[in-house]
Amino acid sequence: MDHNHTLSRRHFAGAALIATGLVATGGIARAAAPAQTAGGPIGPFYPILRPGDDDFDMTMIKGNSGRALGRVIEVTGRVLDRKGNPVSGSELEIWQCNAAGRYAHPGDIATAPLDPNFQGYARLMTGPSGEWRITTIKPSGYDSPIGHRTPHIHFDIKGRQHRLITQMYFSEDHATNSKDALYNELGEDAVTAMAAQAAADRYRWDIVLAEG
Ligand SMILES: [Fe+2]
Repeated sequence: MDHNHTLSRRHFAGAALIATGLVATGGIARAAAPAQTAGGPIGPFYPILRPGDDDFDMTMIKGNSGRALGRVIEVTGRVLDRKGNPVSGSELEIWQCNAAGRYAHPGDIATAPLDPNFQGYARLMTGPSGEWRITTIKPSGYDSPIGHRTPHIHFDIKGRQHRLITQMYFSEDHATNSKDALYNELGEDAVTAMAAQAAADRYRWDIVLAEG
């Protein structure tokens, strides 16, 4: 086991306590059920053209020497059920626009340029503790037929019993989040779709499925 792996295991263990909402009551700790992550529309840009590389590092494409434009970020998290149990072996498909706000999708009529070094799509399986990780760039907001979209990353999660399609948002984008129609539709559930900023370029987001 390498050093980085040990560190991330510890990191994930800490997150589990947060995700399960460990509550101390009269000296006795009890775990509150974590809130189920809110779902949302798949959107018009689910990738039909695959980049030829779908690993966790979306900032580089195998065979290219360059790296994607934009602020490199890491997002980590776990897939859990509503009892807080990890859901190992979940399949995650993840996609997003580039730093200029363009999807590598024939249906995207945005005039912002494509980035030949941006993978834009990843397909992962969660590990034994339900953990997953991506390295990517912070997506831009973009104009759409339903108004300006605030920065977000799309997720399609297939657990053992439950599939969830949703979008992850960033708390630092409070001003534009509050003007985004899809974000506002979530109401109080928006908290379940919000990544926590763990460091300048590191975010954490746990995904809670209905039945795991
Ligand atoms: Fe989108």
